[in-house]
Amino acid sequence: MQFENLILEIDEHLATIIINRPKKLNALNKETIKELHEALSALQADSDIKVIIITGSGEKAFVAGADIAEFAHYSEAEGEELAAHGQKILFDFVENLNKPVIAAVNGFALGGGLELALSCHFRVASENARMGLPEVSLGVIPGYGGTQRLPKLIGKGRAMELIMTAGMINAKEALKCGLVNHVVPQEELLPLCEELADRISKNSPVAISYAIKAVNTGFMNTARGFEAEIKAFGECFGTEDFKEGTTAFLEKRKANFPGA
Ligand code: COA
Repeated sequence: MQFENLILEIDEHLATIIINRPKKLNALNKETIKELHEALSALQADSDIKVIIITGSGEKAFVAGADIAEFAHYSEAEGEELAAHGQKILFDFVENLNKPVIAAVNGFALGGGLELALSCHFRVASENARMGLPEVSLGVIPGYGGTQRLPKLIGKGRAMELIMTAGMINAKEALKCGLVNHVVPQEELLPLCEELADRISKNSPVAISYAIKAVNTGFMNTARGFEAEIKAFGECFGTEDFKEGTTAFLEKRKANFPGA
């Protein structure tokens, strides 16, 4: 398979997807989201593949978020559709894939990047990784499941703080609060993920797919939360704060929010 924004490497039972827009810190534009869906669908259908690793190209970023330039001028309806469609074809899709998906977080995982890592079944980080949900600094909220998956993983209070401050935590802090399972030097990140994948691939793929289903079913009472997130995400696009936040980012200046 050939992709514009992804590199797909296959080694026996292991597939590694490298998100490859390093000049934009691997930001998720619509095309990349579509390609990730296509790659994951093909890997799901391929019975030779037992484990999938998702990582970012370069040494700086896993994914620095959804592509702000692409959505800065969206209307409320377009914003809501962006969240709903992305959730459906990528974030929920990864979470419910019937084979294990490991996020190898090799640098910044911000906004949609952290949300992608949260959708993966578990996360391993390199020492330089920095994670956060900076959306409110842009006048919008996390729209790809961040308000739902982050509190589940690290607890409501910690998630609230991270979302409200729009701050970043480093790999050590992420390890402490259970956001990532392991932290290693960057050069050991993929080898460790491959070792874990190798251990996983010795087990029954059928049993693993049932385990994924069972664990996810336990988390499914959040359906209304996801709906509320999508609706609120869309509503942000009608605010002056959103216009100011995204314009300020693209103009490389600090936002001055009118608060309306
Ligand atoms: N969407 C679109 N473009 C992005 C991006 C995003 N989420 N994140 C980074 N980029 C682009 C920058 O605009 C810049 O492009 P340019 O060289 O054409 O100007 C390029 O990637 C490099 O980023 P830059 O900001 O110069 O790198 P930095 O090392 O100074 O800062 C970050 C790194 C991650 C702190 C900074 O890029 C950032 O804050 N990104 C946005 C994070 C965010 O808010 N994500 C949530 C989106 S909902």
